[in-house]
Amino acid sequence: MRSKQLNLTSYTTDKVTHHYLDVYDPILLPWVGKEIKLLEIGIYKGGSLQLWRDYFPLGIIIGIDLKRPERFEPGERIQVFEGSQSDERFLSEVAKKTAPDGFDIIIDDASHIGELTKRTFWHLFDHHLKPGGLYAIEDWGTGYCDDFPDGRRLNLKNPPMSRVRSLLSRRLRRILKVPFPCHSYGMVGFIKELVDEQGAASVTMRCPIEGRRGSKFKNMLITPGIVFVTRIAPTLTASPNPVPAGKGAGRTTISWNTADKTIGMFRGMQAENHLWPPDLKARLLRIGSVLVPAMSSASIIPTTQSFSTKLSLPKQRNDYCASHSLDRNFPPAN
Ligand SMILES: C[S@@+](CC[C@H](N)C(=O)[O-])C[C@H]1O[C@@H](n2cnc3c(N)ncnc32)[C@H](O)[C@@H]1O
Repeated sequence: MRSKQLNLTSYTTDKVTHHYLDVYDPILLPWVGKEIKLLEIGIYKGGSLQLWRDYFPLGIIIGIDLKRPERFEPGERIQVFEGSQSDERFLSEVAKKTAPDGFDIIIDDASHIGELTKRTFWHLFDHHLKPGGLYAIEDWGTGYCDDFPDGRRLNLKNPPMSRVRSLLSRRLRRILKVPFPCHSYGMVGFIKELVDEQGAASVTMRCPIEGRRGSKFKNMLITPGIVFVTRIAPTLTASPNPVPAGKGAGRTTISWNTADKTIGMFRGMQAENHLWPPDLKARLLRIGSVLVPAMSSASIIPTTQSFSTKLSLPKQRNDYCASHSLDRNFPPAN
């Protein structure tokens, strides 16, 4: 593990005393040795920036804090900016200057106040984190602390719904849906909102087709001290590919995910002579001409040698194009 190769006692950061590197190590492994851009919000004396600089030998490390640390010389591969995590314009200026193509990793170790952390998260996640990038939120457990500005001690005894329920007849009690008791103060409440985003596909399942979407998250990992969210990357796959051999009877399914809450555009660049099953024709024509849900799939029966598809997102938001060719696997000549 990367942190074991460093002399951790030489860095002034509570990431060492909290043993956070044991949590970070397996998660950060794919980025060690790559030319990454890492942003940390909340840098205190700057010790964590030096740690990340040495952790990622080819990384550019950017730090933000309300107050620039005194007597801190950023030196090689570190840049520091003074401003608030809640100032979206400031965040975008820093991002444009230092990582116009987006950050690979963002770590929020600043205020630990739910509302501020939420605003920072959605701004940076939506606009300045690369597809496939990682967003870490430290110290979310402050939401359980009475002495934290927006935190509160966990107390799930007698939530209002269970009191109401106890007054009902047995028959009504059986049909009344009662939620689990839930603590949602400060950072804990914010993290629970992120769980709803992870469930976006289920949340929007019964919406009209234009409203259905998958999550912006590939996954979420909740550890005792840090929550990690990985941004989903757009995908376009076809299965099976090559299309099975046969007399125009091969069928393949194209699946896509625009990885965005907005609707993406799917273009089927059709060679001639595609055989559309009648029930799919209308659906595919719609797909070919206008908008499709952010996550979907369609089947086609190509009769020509290849069929290429292209997935594109609106230009202004991390423009992304994926293309995929379907190869027709013709029967052998003999
Ligand atoms: C826990 S310390 C950061 C520790 C540092 N990341 C480390 O590992 O050594 C929290 C820092 O967040 C900064 N901070 C608090 N509120 C902030 C805000 N609204 N915007 C930016 N930074 C903030 C504080 O000034 C403080 O330096």
